[in-house]
Amino acid sequence: MAPASPSALGRVLIIAGSDSGGGAGVQADIKAVTAMGGYAATAITAITVQNTLGVHGVHPLPLDLIEAQARAVLDDIGADAIKTGMLGSVAVVERVAAILDTSEAPAVVDPVMVAKGGAALLDADAVEAVRSLMVPRAAILTPNAPEAEALTGMPVADLDGQRRGGEALLQMGARAVLMKGGHVDGPTVVDLLLTPSGETLLEGPRIETTSTHGTGCTLASAVAAGLAQGRPVESAVAEAWAYVSEAIRRAPGLGRGHGPLDHGWPLRDRR
Ligand SMILES: Nc1ncnc2c1ncn2[C@@H]1O[C@H](COP(=O)(O)OP(=O)(O)OP(=O)(O)O)[C@@H](O)[C@H]1O
Ligand SMILES: [Mg+2]
Repeated sequence: MAPASPSALGRVLIIAGSDSGGGAGVQADIKAVTAMGGYAATAITAITVQNTLGVHGVHPLPLDLIEAQARAVLDDIGADAIKTGMLGSVAVVERVAAILDTSEAPAVVDPVMVAKGGAALLDADAVEAVRSLMVPRAAILTPNAPEAEALTGMPVADLDGQRRGGEALLQMGARAVLMKGGHVDGPTVVDLLLTPSGETLLEGPRIETTSTHGTGCTLASAVAAGLAQGRPVESAVAEAWAYVSEAIRRAPGLGRGHGPLDHGWPLRDRR
C-alpha cells in the first residue's frame, strides 16, 4: 500500500501533561489520534504521577523545554492541528499561546482544570489567562460543565445553561465550542456543539460506569485528528464522539478507581 500523504494522515501536535496511568493526558491523546488514523507528536507540559486512584504528584517542566519540544516538532515534522490539554500555570498558558501564533494549524483547546479524582491541574490565577489567551485562539474549545462555568461565570446545569455558556464562549472568540455534558445530571448525556452557523446535539444514554478517566482528553484529541485530516468541525466532532462512546462502553475495568477507556477498539475490530 502507498504511504499516506501528510495531510491525509493528519499530523497532530499535542501540548499537554503526561499521565503515567495511560488513561488521560498525553498518553490518551496519542492513543486517540492513532486510533483515528492520525500521527501524534507531543510537547509535554508536566509529568504527573497518576493512576486510576488519583494524581499523586505533578511536576511541571521548564517553559523553555516545553517550547523546545513544540518547536522541534513544528520546524521539522509539521502539524495539521494542535491540541492543548493541561497547561498548569499562567506562564505556560502565555508560552503556549505564543506557540499557537507561530502556526497556521487549527487549535483544539481543552481547558483542563481539574482531574477526575479532584486534583487541580490549573492554578486558580491561570483561569483568566485561559479565558483571555486560549479561548480566542481556539478553532474549537472543549470545556466540561465546571470549566465552562469557571470561564463564563454562568451556571451550566442543563441544556439551556450549556447553550448560554457556549454562546458566551463564542462571543469570547472561540470559533466553535463543544460543551461536554458528562458533568450535567440526567439519564442522557448531551454534548452541544456550537458554531457561528448553528448547533448540533450529540446525545446518548448515560453509561453506568466508573471508567471515565480521560474521556475529555480522548474526545478532544480525536477531534484534533479529524480536523488534521481536513474534516469540517461538525463531522470531526461526530466521529470523535462515536469513538469515545464506544471506548467508554468497552472500558476494560483496569485499576481500582476511575478506570481508563478502551482506546484501541477500532484497531482490534479490524483484525
Ligand atoms: N457516563 C457517561 N456516559 C456516556 N458518555 C459519557 C459519560 N461520561 C462522559 N461521557 C462523554 O465523555 C466525553 C467527555 O465528557 P466529560 O464532560 O466527562 O469531560 P471531562 O470532564 O473533560 O473528562 P475528563 O475528566 O476526562 O477530563 C463527552 O463526550 C461526554 O458526553
Ligand atoms: Mg477534561
